[in-house]
Amino acid sequence: MSRLPFPGAFPTTRPRRLRSDGWIRELVAETRLGPGDLIWPIFVVEGDQRQPVESLPGVDRLDLASAVEACRRARDLGIPAVAIFPMIDRALRSEDGAEACREGNLVCRATAAIKAAVPDLGIMVDVALDPFTSHGHDGVLRDGRVLNDETVEILVRQALVQAAAGADIVAPSDMMDGRIGAVRAALDGTGRQDVKIMAYSAKYASAFYGPFRDAVGSTGVLVGDKKTYQMDSANSDEALREVELDLREGADMVMVKPGLPYLDIIRRVRDGFGVPTFAYQVSGEYAMLRAAAQNGWLDYPKALLEVLTAFKRAGAAGVLTYGAVDAAQLIG
Ligand code: PBG
Repeated sequence: MSRLPFPGAFPTTRPRRLRSDGWIRELVAETRLGPGDLIWPIFVVEGDQRQPVESLPGVDRLDLASAVEACRRARDLGIPAVAIFPMIDRALRSEDGAEACREGNLVCRATAAIKAAVPDLGIMVDVALDPFTSHGHDGVLRDGRVLNDETVEILVRQALVQAAAGADIVAPSDMMDGRIGAVRAALDGTGRQDVKIMAYSAKYASAFYGPFRDAVGSTGVLVGDKKTYQMDSANSDEALREVELDLREGADMVMVKPGLPYLDIIRRVRDGFGVPTFAYQVSGEYAMLRAAAQNGWLDYPKALLEVLTAFKRAGAAGVLTYGAVDAAQLIG
């Protein structure tokens, strides 16, 4: 390596010198994780009681009053944004997920309530139909296939009601082709040029979404899998093509999901495009840490901060994590 600034090797050069004490490690750290790097995904539910999610220790579905309180605390801890996911009553789910587009649905009410109480907290909402469909898919099903263009039309209406309710960021997580451009055009056409789009651009068909599907009540509901629209974990060139398309269509920020098994994708996207690139430490990744910690097999706070720092090191601008509040408290 020609870029070595020092003359020789051992014993003159001792890399351990820069690890000898906390203060020097702090001084030479290449990556820093702060509360400002975190987006906190929360689950909301009707009623007036929080409900624990069994497969996500430490995570509850929150009634609206609890959600507002939790968001106030998160903001006080320095967390800039939350992402809202709903548990929709079975009776309101349908083949085409129409409830997703209804003004005054649970997501819209949660958005408005949080925005009113904590105005300087950013609110991100998912654009996808899965919590609202009777079959658990992110779009409209016909003959076992998710229809692309028909779904995009519905997603556009969903994004518009979310924006009207006060969402700052809409985040299409559905993986339909062309949805970013359609959502951008609709937002701009209705005077909502300032609403930001975070595209779930490289979203993989993953086994790590299990506990999330529990939390939104689509476990046991989902028919088949999502491999005809979410990406194959074997691919990374394809992730770059997805990112490029979403950026051309108007995405402001992009996301790689899941996180830890896809650090290489985060690095490639960040190096290739230089746009704000976010990692989603998904439910299964978080649950693994919690489960191991419950068994006394690893130290949750240390493992959490290590993983979150790894996302930053890989090039992420920020991370969505169910451990956001824990991490913000730990970082202090
Ligand atoms: C739905 C959506 C999913 C997640 C976020 N948005 C699940 C899925 O695609 O099946 C997963 C998040 C997580 O596992 O934490 N479009």
